[in-house]
Amino acid sequence: MTGTGAAVRRLTDWDAARLRALADEFETPLYVLDLDRVRENAARLLAAFPDADVSYAVKANATRAVLETVRDAGLGAECASAGEVRRALDAGVPGRRVRYTAVNPPARDLDDVVEASRGHDLVLTVDSADTLDRVAERGYDGRLCVRVNPGVGAGHHEKVVTGDAPQFGVPYDRSAALCADARRRGFDLVGLHAHAGSGISGEGLEAHRELVRRTSALAEEVGDLDFAAVGGGFGVPYRPEEPPLDLDAVARATREAFGDPGARLAVEPGRYVVADAGVLLTRVTAVTETPETTVAGCDAGMTTLLRPALYDAYHHIRSLAPDAAARESVRCLVAGPICETADVLARDRPLPAPARGDPLAVGNAGAYAYEMASQYNSRPRPAVVSATGDPLVRRETLSDLTRLEARVEQ
Ligand code: LLP
Repeated sequence: MTGTGAAVRRLTDWDAARLRALADEFETPLYVLDLDRVRENAARLLAAFPDADVSYAVKANATRAVLETVRDAGLGAECASAGEVRRALDAGVPGRRVRYTAVNPPARDLDDVVEASRGHDLVLTVDSADTLDRVAERGYDGRLCVRVNPGVGAGHHEKVVTGDAPQFGVPYDRSAALCADARRRGFDLVGLHAHAGSGISGEGLEAHRELVRRTSALAEEVGDLDFAAVGGGFGVPYRPEEPPLDLDAVARATREAFGDPGARLAVEPGRYVVADAGVLLTRVTAVTETPETTVAGCDAGMTTLLRPALYDAYHHIRSLAPDAAARESVRCLVAGPICETADVLARDRPLPAPARGDPLAVGNAGAYAYEMASQYNSRPRPAVVSATGDPLVRRETLSDLTRLEARVEQ
């Protein structure tokens, strides 16, 4: 199968009338996921990495429909928690295609994953000597992987660069010894794992290549491994003028840097699979003219889409007002309904003059978007629907906000 679909889907490629209809039918804020686009992205990855193990990093978007789609496309699942392992298995990802790669795993996580491993031949990754001991204490006898800190990192923001941050993995120069120790203790060591960071493009790709070289060299030194995973991190363009990543070139460079260490190359992209398959729909609830700017108050904010508040991330915004093209462009502060100055989707953003009731579409909202939504300010999480109008996750109600609470009335 060749890599189908264009290298990137821009916000302008979405059909405005269709998005307006979805906003009307399902109300806002609303996440729309195009599962065909997920399929296309998965196919492009498989075509670019024909002989590698390609697993989807579930943390980007753990919605069941996405997991079923990537499973059908032939991707495995890279899981950051017992919860993600549960979701992947529930969605029918075969156990042998599931890898658990948690950071400082909580005790309950290890209990649950070791339990799950009894019925499913998954891979459990340890990120420290302590975690290896903790796994041994639980009698784990399944496939084991060691997470290595490669000492090189990259990413779209300092908060997502993991490769050289001390909390991720066994220091590179101690990894071979830990692997030998694991084998001495009878573990079925099958792989190594390293990850540079997220949203890698441009100059960051050199760090990715260096990580691949280091991981491959270590795999060769350790020997007799099934795979060496070099993480995810493939960037996608968020700004309209940004060019797409040349995935085939990145794949070629990865292959070349990997060489032949006697283990299979494994990659685990998340963002690349889902980012441009998602749009967030929101509605303008109030427009306020101030001396500094025009404030477009919306029903989506940092509890719906955290990335602008947390990373100053840029998400393209498009007015879906039917007469948007005829309106003059004004610079807007697109703000949400949360009582925090950080509650902004965009600052100083030129938009067709906003009016109350306008639907807006926020682009690249398929990855780390719904997944990072919260109930802060007691705002129920939004619904998720497919581009064809199938409900995928129902909208939370006010009753959902309190359903876990105990009553402590005297
Ligand atoms: N593998 C591991 C071990 C990871 O930690 C991650 C992401 C991935 C794979 C997938 O990386 P991707 O291909 O999606 O770049 N919330 C942030 C992103 C954090 C990513 C953390 N790890 C954001 O919204 O930009």
